[in-house]
Amino acid sequence: MKKLGVALIGCGGIGRIHAQSIRDSRYTIPKVSCDIVREKARQIQVEYGFETYTTDYEEVAKRDDVDVVIVAIPPRYHAEVSIKLLESGKHVLCEKPIATNLKDAWEMITKAHKSGVKLCIDYQNRYLPSYSKLKEIISSGILGEIIQIRARVAYSILHTIKPTDSMLKWLFNPEISGGGVLMDIGTHWTDLVRWLVNKDYVGIYALIGHFNPNIPNTIEDTATILARMTDDIQAIIDVSWATIGSKWPIEVYGDKGTAIADFPGRLEIYDAKKGEWEKIKVKPSLEPHFKLLNLFLRSIINDEEPPVTDIDAYKSLEAIIAAYESAKTRREVLLPILD
Ligand SMILES: NC(=O)c1ccc[n+]([C@@H]2O[C@H](COP(=O)([O-])OP(=O)(O)OC[C@H]3O[C@@H](n4cnc5c(N)ncnc54)[C@H](O)[C@@H]3O)[C@@H](O)[C@H]2O)c1
Repeated sequence: MKKLGVALIGCGGIGRIHAQSIRDSRYTIPKVSCDIVREKARQIQVEYGFETYTTDYEEVAKRDDVDVVIVAIPPRYHAEVSIKLLESGKHVLCEKPIATNLKDAWEMITKAHKSGVKLCIDYQNRYLPSYSKLKEIISSGILGEIIQIRARVAYSILHTIKPTDSMLKWLFNPEISGGGVLMDIGTHWTDLVRWLVNKDYVGIYALIGHFNPNIPNTIEDTATILARMTDDIQAIIDVSWATIGSKWPIEVYGDKGTAIADFPGRLEIYDAKKGEWEKIKVKPSLEPHFKLLNLFLRSIINDEEPPVTDIDAYKSLEAIIAAYESAKTRREVLLPILD
């Protein structure tokens, strides 16, 4: 079986999860771990069996034995680092959001296409089993024509981050993160909603706010998006770091039925004939980052489209940029955004 040499750039919180996936995949040879902090790069090398480590991503770009690179560094630097790798002929799995602005995102896409390599973005929530099953249900047509979708993601950021996490150095600094809860997890949900109903955003209206006094007010901690999609589908996406308790529900309403999924795993369909709700059993699946990495590696080996395309990632970012613009101007922003 063909195996690919894989490097990891960024050995922080999510980097460790990727290192595990790289170690465990049957398509990989772990080649290089890289972090600007030497001890982190070295620790990941030792723990997950990479052949070597470095503190300089340009060294990764120069190596002939590296085919694929996972970029797991703060959002502001995704473009600069990924572009260098794409120019050197590496396939790139970059963390979300693709970039912090549309110009950088487009440059990444252009570079990938010019170099004939694949660029995939880590929207792994598509592979949470209840959402994958929800996608199957929508695609089967059993809900009929989709009319509305409502999707929520929320958790208390101050309860999930430890004071020692290096993420704290950049997460609340919009110069590096690109924004607050919308940019951080909102992009996941703008991607999920597009993917679930297989439609694009054509208009976005949004509210953003800051509610928790313990979260730096440099960024928004809560946002609600009202979106028009192709075929006039209406969507609501709401996200928060300030509220307490949420099961990340996604509700999909069609002209023949309704389905509701959440995380960690409820899935119910309204059976219009019986007039009852039916619980659907959701089979456990692989850890979603691991699943996405394997799908990406297979897409490289078989020269197929990646599981999340660069254009998918551009469109999820575009919806978020439109939401910030709408919140500022208090008007609907039409998509695509043309500059
Ligand atoms: N897909 C997801 O669900 C998910 C979850 C968490 C984080 N993320 C994304 O992953 C990225 C990293 O987040 P994190 O939580 O791991 O942050 P982190 O701060 O824990 O880790 C980032 C690491 O990158 C290193 N780094 C920074 N610049 C570098 C460079 N030029 N070269 C090499 N190393 C560099 C830092 O030293 C740090 O160790 C962000 O884009 C974030 O949005 C995605």
